[in-house]
Amino acid sequence: MSKLIAANWKQNGSSLEVDNLTREIIKGAKKLKNLNNLILIPPSVYLERVSKLIKKSSVSKRISLGVQNISPYKNGAYTGEISADMCKDFDCKYFIVGHSERRETFNEDSVMISKKVLSVLNTSQKIILCIGETLNQREKKQARKVIANQIKSGLSLLTPKMRRTASKIIIAYEPVWAIGTGKTPSLQDIFLMHKHIIEISAKIFITNRSIPKILYGGSVNSENSNEILSIQGVDGALVGGASLNAKKFIDICRSI
Ligand code: PGA
Repeated sequence: MSKLIAANWKQNGSSLEVDNLTREIIKGAKKLKNLNNLILIPPSVYLERVSKLIKKSSVSKRISLGVQNISPYKNGAYTGEISADMCKDFDCKYFIVGHSERRETFNEDSVMISKKVLSVLNTSQKIILCIGETLNQREKKQARKVIANQIKSGLSLLTPKMRRTASKIIIAYEPVWAIGTGKTPSLQDIFLMHKHIIEISAKIFITNRSIPKILYGGSVNSENSNEILSIQGVDGALVGGASLNAKKFIDICRSI
């Protein structure tokens, strides 16, 4: 199965920087024939320009576009929000939901997250549902419980039909204490948590033994990506800081 690498650029860059970064990554991707599943997730105001650059490249089939945040509502009087349908105009296929920065800094609770999940799954697009424990929860040995609750509540509004297949759902395990800190869990801890996520998900998606793809995120860089991406149960990586440097990011992609 080909691994998926997603670049979350967060609130960084200018139009010029985003153009350069996209061009450099496209250039690098051309040389990596194994890389079939790359997702670029720029700030929303730059979606259109990144979309154009991808479309006119020879690797347009191997690079997709994602969105960092999405409205829980279809349309209407919701100042500042954008919908999954609007993003279709730029061929966006993936939406991050439940990133810890949104949970913490923007107070998104599990109800809001479950509504956002549903608003994307009501379209043809896919979600990347981020989950992860804080350091405090980990030290209190609550990590497994927190993770189970975040998966169950995030996917709580799925209709029976949506529970038939997990093909539109990607889960990103991102320990909060590992994001942007340079710290990562041990390889064994990542393996065990992904196994736990697989077991929880298997109870939600009832038929076909359908399990979401599961990414690891949190301080993935070109030095640790080889080891992390070879852990059983790790289907790819969600990369923040290191995806802002084309060379480092392409080095990570080389690990698959
Ligand atoms: P990081 O961010 O790679 O900078 O730790 C990961 C993320 O927030 O998705």
